[in-house]
Amino acid sequence: MEKSNIVLIGFMGTGKSTVGHALAARLGWQFVNTDDVIEEQQGMSISDMFAKLGEPVFRQVESEVIQASLDGISSIVATGGGAVLAEQNRNVMKENGYVVALTANAETIIERVSQDQNRPLVQGDVAERVHTLLEVRKHAYDFADRTIDTSELTVEEIVNLIVSDMKL
Ligand code: S3P
Repeated sequence: MEKSNIVLIGFMGTGKSTVGHALAARLGWQFVNTDDVIEEQQGMSISDMFAKLGEPVFRQVESEVIQASLDGISSIVATGGGAVLAEQNRNVMKENGYVVALTANAETIIERVSQDQNRPLVQGDVAERVHTLLEVRKHAYDFADRTIDTSELTVEEIVNLIVSDMKL
């Protein structure tokens, strides 16, 4: 496998950060969570960024951070759930990494995201928001090289699948 980075994509709450951390530890690669980089760069939470600067500014910064994160080699890059909506981002991901889409069923996602105040797109009626967005983004993650449903798997099992795919 000649791809030199691994990019984790998927809806909110599908386990990108958790899997990314474990995968990085296993491979000894660097782990980058683009949301964390954005928060650090902007000096504010994702929620504050949406509220104060608006989603378009967030998306612009997100694209820049994705590009920068995939500039080198041997990084595991966990991206925000909406990063795949921009074609430019999808191209950068495909060109510079092995793209793994993580999925989970709606119930699992709702359970995982409902405790989190820092996900502006699913505040309010969380279940309704998740169902609506899942429908809108139904095919958004289809471009991945590999798709893994995380609902019934342990983190270790997911890591093993990705590592064996990559023949690492
Ligand atoms: C978003 C997902 C979030 C974060 C932002 C927008 C989305 O990342 O980037 O709240 O549009 O799905 P996670 O997928 O890590 O929650």
